[in-house]
Amino acid sequence: MDRILVTGGAGFIGSNFVHHVVAHTDAHVTVLDKLTYASTEESLAGLPEDRVTLVVGDIAEPEVVEPLVAGVDAVVHYAAESHNDNSLEDPGPFIRTNVVGTFTLLEAARKHDKRFHHVSTDEVYGDLELDDPKRFTEDTPYNPSSPYSASKAGSDHLVRAWVRSFGVRATISNCSNNYGPWQHIEKFIPRQITEVIDGRRPRLYGDGLNVRDWIHTEDHSSAVLAILERGQIGETYLIGADGEKNNLEVVQAILRHFGRSEDEIEFVRDRAGHDRRYAIESGKLRNQLGWQPQYADFDAGLQATIDWYAANEAWWRPHKDAVEASYAAKGQ
Ligand code: NAD
Ligand code: DAU
Repeated sequence: MDRILVTGGAGFIGSNFVHHVVAHTDAHVTVLDKLTYASTEESLAGLPEDRVTLVVGDIAEPEVVEPLVAGVDAVVHYAAESHNDNSLEDPGPFIRTNVVGTFTLLEAARKHDKRFHHVSTDEVYGDLELDDPKRFTEDTPYNPSSPYSASKAGSDHLVRAWVRSFGVRATISNCSNNYGPWQHIEKFIPRQITEVIDGRRPRLYGDGLNVRDWIHTEDHSSAVLAILERGQIGETYLIGADGEKNNLEVVQAILRHFGRSEDEIEFVRDRAGHDRRYAIESGKLRNQLGWQPQYADFDAGLQATIDWYAANEAWWRPHKDAVEASYAAKGQ
């Protein structure tokens, strides 16, 4: 594949993928991104101009999407409204971008017969009990809880239908919670790191015992590239790195890093419909495509992420007050 269109390539995970493609292939990357509040355009700075082109535009607009899709060999679709809490406040943008945007891209991929990879989330499967021995597999029934996860589930179903009914050459991946540099400070780990840097108390929703299955964003990128290059058309692959931790453990680790007391944790109002636990069984990806995570030591990855936020305050500081004002208004 010589030319790849990456939607949402100025976001947290998409920008990491763009770096990964530039480092590990010879492909030219066109990024299509609307540059919403969540974009991290700075993360693309310094990439070679002859390898990466940024186009600012909306994936839900066919006149923007179609000529770009026509001009590449493959589309890797990351663009989304991505934050559960925001979807509970205002679901409309989630339906437009995640559902209508995916539909718009699929129609262009169908018309021009292009390879399509759809980046999705483990949240489409709902949640697991803390003591459930099962983990999510590719066969777990869909059961989304929030407007965000329902919109991603809807987009997955569109991709499956476009494969079956129209023969679009698509694959899907459903990944667990990513962490690493350039993640917006509205999200759990960067919010808590930057709260502690500011001398404030980290906030845990509910009892703090909800479990997420953490994966470093670099491992997500290598998995998506493996699927793009070697995945079977029409197949879904779950991406995970066996990183289950409850939220309390994560916040305790952040406080320890700064030499602060675990007593500082503040328990705040729970998220409506809060999923209890996510856990990924990624055997299909590992066995069929030979993928392995390279950053599976969560404690080491968390330390590096803390160091990155401490060193890159100029990037997140301009957004901090507005993010915290929005949480404070909700009692969180
Ligand atoms: P993000 O919010 O950091 O980035 C999303 C990017 O999409 C931003 O650059 C934004 O400007 C862009 N965008 C939003 N609406 C757009 C539109 N209408 N047109 C064009 N661009 C638009 O999100 P993220 O955390 O990097 O997630 C990227 C993808 O990965 C999403 O599809 C998400 O569902 C999926 N995913 C995320 C995680 C996670 O832990 N963050 C885990 C699994 C899957
Ligand atoms: O599982 C994959 C999903 O992971 C992705 O599809 C989403 O795009 C991504 O945002 C993430 O969703 P979560 O809802 O799991 O992530 P978030 O960072 O919002 O919250 C992680 C956990 O931390 C969750 O149990 C809620 C909790 N939380 C969150 C915040 C912001 C807190 O306890 N306190 C907080 O301040």
